[in-house]
Amino acid sequence: MLFMPWGEHLEIGIAEIDEQHRWLVDTTNSLHALLSTGDAQAAELGVILEQLMDYTMNHFIVEEEIFDRLGYPESDAHKAQHNIFCEKVMDLLTRHDMGETVGVEALNLLKSWLTNHIVKVDKQYVEHFRAAGIAV
Ligand SMILES: [Fe+2]
Ligand SMILES: [Fe+2]
Repeated sequence: MLFMPWGEHLEIGIAEIDEQHRWLVDTTNSLHALLSTGDAQAAELGVILEQLMDYTMNHFIVEEEIFDRLGYPESDAHKAQHNIFCEKVMDLLTRHDMGETVGVEALNLLKSWLTNHIVKVDKQYVEHFRAAGIAV
């Protein structure tokens, strides 16, 4: 069974954003599977963390560009959460590169991000986007 199956509760209704969120769910499941083997390869974890850095940059830019375009009132608070997440991923990657074991911490960070940010904070912009004709 998948650690975190994709489902309607995670859907925003904007194809590009849902696709990017789905990538994060897949990556979370891959990380969980990697850790479940009990002998997670450090190199593989490094690859996942680096992909995660790229992902956050690209995904957050997409959301924030729409916020700016639509004058989304919660933009500042939302961007602050993005920045904190980026810093946490960067910190995990740095510590991983220094030889620390950060796999479980990375999995917990992703799990909490999916259930708190995507399901709650991202969902809050849907109404505003929809009013502007962006969401379906
Ligand atoms: Fe998002
Ligand atoms: Fe977001």
